[in-house]
Amino acid sequence: MGTVTVGAVRGRAPGERRVALVPEAVTRLRRDGIDVLVETGAGAGAWFADADYAEAGAAVVPSHELYARADAVLCVGPPDAGAAASLRAGQVLIGLLEPLRRPALVSALAERGVRTVSLDLLPRTLSRAQSMDALTSQANIAGYKAAVLAADTYDRFFPMLTTAAGTMRPAQVLVLGAGVAGLQAIATARRLGAVVTAHDVRPESREEVQSLGARFLDVAALPTREQGAAQGTGQGAGQGGYARELTESEQRAQRAALDAHIARTDIVITTAQVPGRKPPLLVTAAAVRAMKSGSVVVDLAASEFGGNVEVSEPDRTTVLDNGVTVIGAGHLPSAMATAASTAYARNLVALLRHLVRDGELVLDPADEITAALTGGAPA
Ligand code: NAI
Repeated sequence: MGTVTVGAVRGRAPGERRVALVPEAVTRLRRDGIDVLVETGAGAGAWFADADYAEAGAAVVPSHELYARADAVLCVGPPDAGAAASLRAGQVLIGLLEPLRRPALVSALAERGVRTVSLDLLPRTLSRAQSMDALTSQANIAGYKAAVLAADTYDRFFPMLTTAAGTMRPAQVLVLGAGVAGLQAIATARRLGAVVTAHDVRPESREEVQSLGARFLDVAALPTREQGAAQGTGQGAGQGGYARELTESEQRAQRAALDAHIARTDIVITTAQVPGRKPPLLVTAAAVRAMKSGSVVVDLAASEFGGNVEVSEPDRTTVLDNGVTVIGAGHLPSAMATAASTAYARNLVALLRHLVRDGELVLDPADEITAALTGGAPA
């Protein structure tokens, strides 16, 4: 029986502090008979020292040794050109590789015989895949951090407070997109005492929003169940539990309906995504201009591919002339790197337990989870 060797590389993307394995995960993998390499300094950004990895049973090695010895290279985000060039035929790269956004990366690796396992492609509604769901673990962190960041940036209280100096009104928070990140943002803002309203295009999100004590904002512009069925578009849900992209006219109508609510809101947190598409534009420049001075907008979708807020810039905080602070926050999991890495590493341990059989890393195209993660390509 052979032994599988996995290696966690140091993230090199600007601002990336997460790491694919944490010492606790090394212990678990070693217990399963998997050999673990960790690149020197890989965990430093998330406060894990090389010595902690070594104590857990990993060999801490320089990157060239890792690429030479690992059967599977573990990363968090997509590799940069240098890292991609270091991979060799027969090796497997496992991470959140964003294949829908960066198809050229995965196909260039495939051409060189490097196999890719993209955690972004996990069939998330399968219950046996849930422990591997890195999109969920990272979105949860992003949602929590978004609410905390908004509260920290806002120069008033979130809760209603009655003090000797009088009563302070609670903050009004609007969350757009009530998936994993949005629901966690709602729950966190509620825990801090804000009054929360939320909107999503997937009809099933209504109950989830309400169960967290928030109000669901209906947008009359979206088709009813009956209209959606008649048009063949459905309401707002697409494939695999995700939203569909709205038509141009639906999007315009949605924005018009949201504008009035945005103007009355102190905090807007946007989290809307449609897989493989540009994030939908939900908050126009005009809507932000109509907000009160001191308001805060946090755009979790802000990236080089666009965002939900017209005036947000990726990884930048901008204070507009009207006193509204706009935060482009597409990389929030990295801002809570210890929690994000710990959760991600648990997802990877679950995945590796699924893929490693009798000392071999098996990418079995007949297995539903593996077939999805490898993009359906022959493994
Ligand atoms: P996501 O990151 O793709 O999108 C975030 C949210 O934005 C979604 O709720 C989506 O409906 C919403 N959205 C998209 N376009 C919008 C628009 N124009 N206006 C307003 N909202 C818009 O989604 P996420 O958070 O990764 O998960 C989405 C869904 O995936 C879940 O709610 C669930 O149905 C499914 N899922 C299922 C799991 C399971 O069954 N275990 C686990 C995780 C997710």
